[in-house]
Amino acid sequence: MPMSKLWQAAVDQLEQDHDLPEEQFALLLNESDPALSAYLAERASAVRNRFFGRDIYIRGLIEFTNYCKNDCFYCGIRNSCKNVNRYRLNEEQILSCCGTGYALGFRTFVLQGGEDPYWNDQRLCSLISAIKSAYPDCAVTLSVGERSRESYQRLFDAGADRYLLRHETADPSHYRRLHPENLHFEDRIRCLRDLKEIGFQTGCGFMVGSPGQTTDCILKDLQFIHSLQPEMVGIGPFIPASGTPFESQHIGSSSLTLKLLSMIRLMFPRVLLPATTALGTAEADGRQQGILAGANVIMPNLSPASVRKKYSLYDNKLSSGEEAAESVEQLRRSMEKIGYRIVTDRGDYPSE
Ligand code: 5AD
Repeated sequence: MPMSKLWQAAVDQLEQDHDLPEEQFALLLNESDPALSAYLAERASAVRNRFFGRDIYIRGLIEFTNYCKNDCFYCGIRNSCKNVNRYRLNEEQILSCCGTGYALGFRTFVLQGGEDPYWNDQRLCSLISAIKSAYPDCAVTLSVGERSRESYQRLFDAGADRYLLRHETADPSHYRRLHPENLHFEDRIRCLRDLKEIGFQTGCGFMVGSPGQTTDCILKDLQFIHSLQPEMVGIGPFIPASGTPFESQHIGSSSLTLKLLSMIRLMFPRVLLPATTALGTAEADGRQQGILAGANVIMPNLSPASVRKKYSLYDNKLSSGEEAAESVEQLRRSMEKIGYRIVTDRGDYPSE
């Protein structure tokens, strides 16, 4: 069989079975023929359109604290980064972001922050209840890192609907390469399993091209996602952040990110899959390409303009133009150009 037929057969099998033998996954990951990416994107779009039509969900991302007690080697707001201007929004400021977002058509608010001890269960639960009582038709998504199962349960009971916690890598030795000694792979996986069991719509995910990542790591990521059965998967290219141990490392590949978005769509037809800010930062039309590869979620920035530049996970992180929630009209037009529409809908995980 000529090479192209080999990968075409693998894509067709992935679409049919939602799974592949490892060698076939590896073949797809390592083949750089643009015709493969195009075919993956075509099949992934067809599968996404079957469940979601041409609807794209938007989530208002509120980066409410950049304090973080952790020291992940890749992250621009790690504790050791002394050049970061630290900030923390208060409840009133966060509610005001939600108000702005609601008027713009957002029905999901994502509260993302570093692991900031100030935001203990009591404060977070009070914030969640306040948002849910002011906006009962909206979903609240949390993205505040590792906590105890009891804490996750309290946040859920306070009304949080969803939780994003990227697993970062499913390979324990790669995990060690990315994180300091006091962070443990087993804890992270435990958190994700707790979140699912408690009943959160749960998102995991990883960076593409983080230092030390091999094809084998990515195979493990796909296998892990398969075992977790998350409702959401967030992936974007690794982008070096100045002032971190990885500041001189290479940026991750956008084309591999796009192939992975398509493969994940074929594996999990109903999954909520964002075209991430990192992809939009790495490529001029990254978000559009992400949608065309099978993504169906965009998370514009709803944080107050004054703090946006301070949530510097990596260098040159986008926070203006279509990345900004107030430019949702511009985003709408750019999605319409490629044949998609932004909808005002909570965009929950679709039931069977
Ligand atoms: N490049 C790309 N993504 C990053 N993240 C953190 N640092 C970087 C970086 N340098 C991602 C992590 C984290 C999410 C909030 O941002 O995957 O889970």
